[in-house]
Amino acid sequence: MKLLKEGSVSFYLFNDVFYNPLAKFSRTFGVLAIYTFSKYVGRGLVVADSFAASGIRGLRYYVESNVVDKIVFNDKNPVAYQNIVYNIKFNKIKDARVFNLNYFVFLPILGRGHFDVIDIDPYGTPAPYIDLAISFVKNRGLIIITATDLTALCGLYPRAAFRKYGSDVIKTDFCHEVALRVLIKELVFAGGRHNRIVLPLASMFSEQYARIYAYVYDGRRDFPKNNLGYIEITNDRCYSVKRVSDSVNKPYIGPLWIGSLHDKEFIEYMIKYVDKLNIEESEYKRLKSLLKLMKEEIELPPYSFKVSKLASKLRVSPPTLIDIIDRLKGMGFKAGRSHLGKDYFKTNAPYHVVLEVLEDLGKK
Ligand SMILES: C[S@@+](CC[C@H](N)C(=O)[O-])C[C@H]1O[C@@H](n2cnc3c(N)ncnc32)[C@H](O)[C@@H]1O
Repeated sequence: MKLLKEGSVSFYLFNDVFYNPLAKFSRTFGVLAIYTFSKYVGRGLVVADSFAASGIRGLRYYVESNVVDKIVFNDKNPVAYQNIVYNIKFNKIKDARVFNLNYFVFLPILGRGHFDVIDIDPYGTPAPYIDLAISFVKNRGLIIITATDLTALCGLYPRAAFRKYGSDVIKTDFCHEVALRVLIKELVFAGGRHNRIVLPLASMFSEQYARIYAYVYDGRRDFPKNNLGYIEITNDRCYSVKRVSDSVNKPYIGPLWIGSLHDKEFIEYMIKYVDKLNIEESEYKRLKSLLKLMKEEIELPPYSFKVSKLASKLRVSPPTLIDIIDRLKGMGFKAGRSHLGKDYFKTNAPYHVVLEVLEDLGKK
């Protein structure tokens, strides 16, 4: 085993227990999201780190956010279980419990309504675990899910996407956004099955992880049907958005979530609270600029364009994002950046206008 440090937590990693240092930033984002959620709902939190491995995620939630009343770890791997027990003692955490169970046994043992927050961080797809979390989380609770099965969610393996998520997925330049939107759709439909409403508070793609932070509350009436739909792909990458109640022509992507990826108020709170936490300088800057991009994309269409791809199609040099966005806004369209990457922008301008703008700017 070896001693590691992440954020302000030191922890031991046993041999053969999973730990990915690349997910560090996503865990830091999680600490801020947990802190913000506690302020949002006005209570301390009981949190389940239900696929915990070494326990680093839950340890950081507990130690760094200061809003977790009780942290409950679970992992079906006996070595991971021993590793978590060791780390809890090492960090002198009193308000913790640890289980060595299959997820499907773990949540029912603690019972419906026990957890304010359920974090699901499996290998690959989270699809099998969604229904149980949605039905067991406390009313006005938070579900956090991670997906890494991007070959399916990005449309490289469309049959796997359909089998696991019930959506037709075609590979596009903005496939990471599609992955987030298909996942949100799954959560929303699971909510519908359990008389619960699910709303995404924050959705993030980074380092090959798709992560959704979703608010769950009891209800049927507000079921967000109008935010579920399709992205029709008309002649050559021209996208048009349809609701589930509209008729849709092939080829299309969906059904998926066509509403906003984030809740504006929640992201504004996150921006406000970044300064409340003790975050390393390098991550602090990254977090601030990520949250700014998230806020910018909130009211824009559910698809994005990649500058380098369009420029090479048009055989022009790639214009800067700022020039493209300014020009589109000057023409009266909505336009902004996307958190998916430095090369992406969103706009409600028709495709032929997007091409004209890039061609004109690219020639100069
Ligand atoms: C991707 S790792 C979790 C990483 C961890 N959350 C982190 O941030 O470092 C997935 C973990 O889930 C555990 N696991 C897989 N399937 C499980 C199941 N059905 N029930 C409980 N644990 C499971 C594995 O043993 C593994 O340790």
